[in-house]
Amino acid sequence: MLKGEKIRFDIHNILFSIYKFNKTLNNPSIKKTIEKHRKEDVSFINNVTLNSMRLHMHVLKIINIYIKKKLRDQEKILLISAITQIVYLDFKEYAVINCTVEIAKKLKVYHGLINASLKKISNDKLKLREIEITFDDLPVWFKNRTNSLTDIQKKRFINNFIQEPSLHLVFKSKNKLEKFEEELIKTSDISGFLINKKNINEIKSFVNGDWWVQDFSSFYPLYNLKIKDKNKKFLDACAAPGGKSFQLLSRKVNLDLNDKNKSRIQIIKSNFKRLNFETKIFNDDFINFKEDKKYDYIIIDAPCSAIGTIRKNPEIFFKPKGPNFKNLNILQEKMLNKAAKLLNENGLIIYMVCSFLDSETTIQIYNFIAKNKKFEISRFIKIDDQREYSKLFNNSFMLTLPDTILNYKIDGYFAAFLRKNK
Ligand SMILES: C[S@@+](CC[C@H](N)C(=O)[O-])C[C@H]1O[C@@H](n2cnc3c(N)ncnc32)[C@H](O)[C@@H]1O
Repeated sequence: MLKGEKIRFDIHNILFSIYKFNKTLNNPSIKKTIEKHRKEDVSFINNVTLNSMRLHMHVLKIINIYIKKKLRDQEKILLISAITQIVYLDFKEYAVINCTVEIAKKLKVYHGLINASLKKISNDKLKLREIEITFDDLPVWFKNRTNSLTDIQKKRFINNFIQEPSLHLVFKSKNKLEKFEEELIKTSDISGFLINKKNINEIKSFVNGDWWVQDFSSFYPLYNLKIKDKNKKFLDACAAPGGKSFQLLSRKVNLDLNDKNKSRIQIIKSNFKRLNFETKIFNDDFINFKEDKKYDYIIIDAPCSAIGTIRKNPEIFFKPKGPNFKNLNILQEKMLNKAAKLLNENGLIIYMVCSFLDSETTIQIYNFIAKNKKFEISRFIKIDDQREYSKLFNNSFMLTLPDTILNYKIDGYFAAFLRKNK
């Protein structure tokens, strides 16, 4: 097999296993498939895979124009990837068509149809690039859960979700940021967007452990947390891969961290090594967490649909089945109730999810407050008075769809601070 064909065969297998077997891009077998390639080929694979998923709804509209026959899953996936490369990534159509047809032959699917339609699509590619999708083209599960969005929000979402994410860095201290060797658009005294994207492993200060990558939205709530007494006890209940814990440890607080997932705990540990952090690490189901020790601050960065990170995780819309909201909502509620038991009086629960859907955000909080009379929603104190950031706040919550600040992209996110009264 030629090199281009081999790489595209792997891309096909990755997309197929996400589509058909509900895998995520973080799945160890998918990671292994990608990592066995050379560095420059890894960027090619990531580029084609991510954009095929991001743009698949546009591409399905194109396919509907040219093909009336019902396609098999493998034919559909091959076409989505090939059309993305030809129409949107502007790769040489000759190479894309040849490789795709050879792969189709090996998979024993209808290669004649693929060849003929890709040739026609290549001729019309400039016109096809103008095709737009509307909110109606999004998955039904998502539309059913976003009835409360305004037309303007829906339009912004359609324009935003297919864009490539920005890279936002968080530094251990002001001093580390000031010494940073690359150009940065500052979002605070310890954070900013990297202007010229590059492989972060090639930046010396990253290797030295001066900073980590964390989306602005997920960084901002804890950045706003005022900590008066460093002796207070903190628990990060769902900590991996570690962004929130890094923020707290940079502020030298007394932190225990926990995550249920063993392999994600290993990721934290290797991040700790680079960042030179140390603290007590638990690998437990938070719902069964021992109750002998109480905490003053409990961070629940709960498992959720992750829809706020759709730019980074385009598989959320690519998979035929949506997230299991029933299970997620039950788990989120149980985590809040568990945290309520473990929290000292006057303590704070900081509940966060990378979602903007009611059932994972405001509904969870209002239900919790209604059932737990000792708790109240604490106002979210903003340190910065930058006008652009105020749009991320809704009443006492941080609540945002995928958006931009300072012309850079941020994830959709939700955060609420819940205080336990005496
Ligand atoms: C959104 S991620 C946390 C991100 C993390 N706080 C950060 O900033 O990098 C949710 C985490 O919850 C963990 N998790 C899921 N169910 C859990 C449970 N029952 N107990 C503890 N952790 C759990 C997952 O393994 C996952 O790492």
